[in-house]
Amino acid sequence: MNIHTKAVHAGDRKKQGDHIPVTTPIYTASSFVYESIETTDKVFGNEMEGYAYARYDNPTNHALEDLCTELEGGHGSLACATGMAAIEMALSTALLDRRKKVVAANALYGATINMLTKVLEPFGVETIFVDICDFDKVAAAIAEEKPGAVLMETISNPLLRVGPLDKIAALTKEAGAALIVDNTFATPLLVRPMDLGANMVVHSLTKYLAGHGDVMGGLIVSDDAHFDALRTLARTYGPTLGPFEAYLAMRGIKTFPLRMERQCRNAIDVAAFLRQHPKVAKVNFLNDPSHPDAATLQRLLPSGLYGAMISFEIKDAGREEVFAFMNRLKLIVKATSLGDVHSMMLYPAMSSHRDLSPKQRERLGIRDGLVRLSVGIEDAADICADLNQAFR
Ligand SMILES: Cc1ncc(COP(=O)(O)O)c(C=O)c1O
Repeated sequence: MNIHTKAVHAGDRKKQGDHIPVTTPIYTASSFVYESIETTDKVFGNEMEGYAYARYDNPTNHALEDLCTELEGGHGSLACATGMAAIEMALSTALLDRRKKVVAANALYGATINMLTKVLEPFGVETIFVDICDFDKVAAAIAEEKPGAVLMETISNPLLRVGPLDKIAALTKEAGAALIVDNTFATPLLVRPMDLGANMVVHSLTKYLAGHGDVMGGLIVSDDAHFDALRTLARTYGPTLGPFEAYLAMRGIKTFPLRMERQCRNAIDVAAFLRQHPKVAKVNFLNDPSHPDAATLQRLLPSGLYGAMISFEIKDAGREEVFAFMNRLKLIVKATSLGDVHSMMLYPAMSSHRDLSPKQRERLGIRDGLVRLSVGIEDAADICADLNQAFR
């Protein structure tokens, strides 16, 4: 089935007694009872399907999880309170019975880098960062370090680099490591990492999937091999998404492929506008024929869909000039998120990569004049007009 069809049908319309609700209700119950305590006992013991306690599972979350499993093509899913909780759960699951070592892309969301270096490292999990787009370096790191897990983003933030996910999946499989892919930027409309051999896919639901800037959430889609361990760990950790948020996320996902297609189309127009603008020094966008990962992009991305994230460098600009430019924006929202229906701009040096030193940022190619634009569903000409007036 096509992703547009799955988005509006999967997970919903499960029979409840004698009726079928067209959309899944919000189940606020914190626990569930059965006619006989013997049944409750079996549900608690996982001998029988059902709901016992909302930290373990509830029907609203379950519907959302089924929907996301369909979208990403995995065995099962777990909905979490945030994207960060999802990343933590995926890493804990992967490392449960493996070497406590991670090979991670050096270009990751800032908070993910912090989790690895400031939280997991003190707990004895070592991380080796590599340039995930340099296949030889990734292969050498996996061979030398024998990691329990490899962690990467499908499309990196904010420079939009794309590692050879399919080839890395083959390597990790051979090495017995688990491959975890953060697919937040690409979404399953562009890439389905499980189809390419990833073991777990994580999302910040907060972004494109929910898409309206009104809910936080995270999600892990897992293969068969990791699913039971993932759910068992979640019972203990309790990263559970609330049912109101699960409902909102599911409602948002119904229009996600529609929104994303339009956002991708808009982004092509906005990138073209930026490329010809005299105040712009450099544009990072995936439709660039001279993109450093062009061969990988051609292999992994469907034609005509390049995502809806753009980053660009304003000519001769430092922090002060970037702030002045951002303050002049009238339509584009100056906020630290992405993937919403409205366009948003962020200054990586101030937000997503704030905790890195200027030298670390420079090494990653995140210069002082760089801004990141998440293109929304507005009219592309209006977005360009706003940028144009802000450039002055
Ligand atoms: C690529 C990526 N992964 C994970 C996260 C974390 O998601 P959340 O803010 O929902 O915890 C973010 C947040 O911006 C992100 O951009």
